[in-house]
Amino acid sequence: MRIYRGTIVHTKSFDEFESFENGFLAVAEDGKIIGVGNDYDSWLSSNKFSPAELTEVRLSENQFLMPGFVDCHIHAPQYAQYGLGLDMPLLDWLNTYTFPLEAKFSDQSYALKVYKSVVEATIRCGTTLASYFATNNLESTLILAREAVRQGQRALIGKVCSNCNSPDYYVETTEESAKATETFVSELQGLKSPLVLPTITPRFALSCSKELLKELGDIAKRLDVHVQSHISENLAEVEVVKGIFKTSYAGAYDEAGLLTKKTVMAHGVHLEDEEIALLKQRATSIAHCPASNTMLNSGLCDVQRLISAGVTVGLGTDVSGGNSVSIQDALLRALDVSKHLEFFKKQNIRGTGEAKNPDPKYVQLKYKQAFYLATLGGAKALSLDHLTGNFMLGKEFDALLVDVSVVEEPVRPLNVNELVEKFIYTGNDRNIVEVFVAGKRVKKPESN
Ligand code: GUN
Ligand code: FE
Repeated sequence: MRIYRGTIVHTKSFDEFESFENGFLAVAEDGKIIGVGNDYDSWLSSNKFSPAELTEVRLSENQFLMPGFVDCHIHAPQYAQYGLGLDMPLLDWLNTYTFPLEAKFSDQSYALKVYKSVVEATIRCGTTLASYFATNNLESTLILAREAVRQGQRALIGKVCSNCNSPDYYVETTEESAKATETFVSELQGLKSPLVLPTITPRFALSCSKELLKELGDIAKRLDVHVQSHISENLAEVEVVKGIFKTSYAGAYDEAGLLTKKTVMAHGVHLEDEEIALLKQRATSIAHCPASNTMLNSGLCDVQRLISAGVTVGLGTDVSGGNSVSIQDALLRALDVSKHLEFFKKQNIRGTGEAKNPDPKYVQLKYKQAFYLATLGGAKALSLDHLTGNFMLGKEFDALLVDVSVVEEPVRPLNVNELVEKFIYTGNDRNIVEVFVAGKRVKKPESN
């Protein structure tokens, strides 16, 4: 059993941040958390472990333990173009760069190379749980799943489905798409990995017929598996979807039975109030992807509006619409977007005249709330918070050991809040020195 002694931080809800300054955290051999708190001596005396069973790890004054980051929305194949081609809005970007790239994943050796790199890169940035879109190609999507298992990352993995409004070189029939999805789910369940699960993945309403959406909704229900897709990301996209489905964007998914408590939808930038109410009613979550929403000119997503309506929100990198693979970056970008929204809502911009959506009561996101979105919020959004997201007893030890002195030694000792602030606001993933999933070290200090 490993005992960490030092500063430990996590959240219990959106507004409940908890820290133990001279705390302890005990991890059992099976990777589960069996003790956490301030009073190590009384925990030890009530548990009667022999000293030989215990390995103590003392954290330095610049180090702390926190839950691992959760990326609720990332496109694994798009890692091959991340940081590139961000000069167009969504629909042009898909046709110009993204569909041609994803079509290349019928080549399994190419897929292996990219998928190995994306799992390494996300682990390096502290992502202990990721919800991945792969491509239409079944075989290479299985390669991604095996790679996550091999590297020890917790993951939801989806074979992407699209049967219309897609280029000829990258489209399936309804039958192919549904059949490959079922095969994928059973192959993945056959891996018998406790870390990697399948998720049903219609690309977005625009690239799936009503019939295919319905088939996918039926599979999700019958097999009781997760679902992920995109919703209301870009205004041009929203108009086309409404024209085709003759209902709202959320309505299109709901008619197919795709809005479930195990569903996470990326973006939701332009959702109407009624759609938000429907998501709340279905317990469907949103993955907020601030970097992507800026890079693809999609808009500013008001997460405070979603959260106050009772919708569960996590963060996503949305690589490669997002230009960063790091949830630490997404956390900071979410804070930026929230500040920018406040400028708009309070007319805090020189020369803009009247605010478009004035809201003098708007309250911007706080850093501890954004920390929640990046950890427990994400785990809840992916319906995996019974296993991960914070350090409650009995959960798996999915954690980061952060050392804020890696990049630069602080000029004075920092208290617990300042350690977290320093980590968040200086935004450097080199400060993440060790990463654990289910108690196993998946990133070692020397790989920095
Ligand atoms: N909508 C449909 N496909 C995609 C994609 O690959 N990225 C983003 N950001 N939005 C999408
Ligand atoms: Fe996306």
